[in-house]
Amino acid sequence: MIGRLNHVAIAVPDLEVAAAQYRDMLGASVAAPQDEPDHGVTVVFIELPNTKIELLHPLGDNSPIAGFLEKNPSGGIHHLCYEVENIAAARDRLLAQGARVLGGGEPKIGAHGKPVLFLHPKDFNGTLIELEEV
Ligand code: CO
Repeated sequence: MIGRLNHVAIAVPDLEVAAAQYRDMLGASVAAPQDEPDHGVTVVFIELPNTKIELLHPLGDNSPIAGFLEKNPSGGIHHLCYEVENIAAARDRLLAQGARVLGGGEPKIGAHGKPVLFLHPKDFNGTLIELEEV
């Protein structure tokens, strides 16, 4: 059911420092920061040959990243995103097997303009999983 690894999202305490590190130290192709007010984050997209890295920083009040950074002040891997062909079918298959889909199970439009869902990390070895329809 799942396809490519679309991206790894890393919550970072300082977006400029993290972006500069990927650009200057690691020599990656780093885009300009992009505010995503609907998701409460500012994102820096990093294109790698086989996947993407997304640096996430809280934006506004009630950011979903704020609590994570409180628990992990130096930052950390926040979620993995796998591609699926049909997000409704993926959700139904997961629900039928007892997995918990966050946010009521209705896909939202994610940072790339495609429908996404998140799966409860406790059901997946402590890893928050995002599914993105491609
Ligand atoms: Co993501």
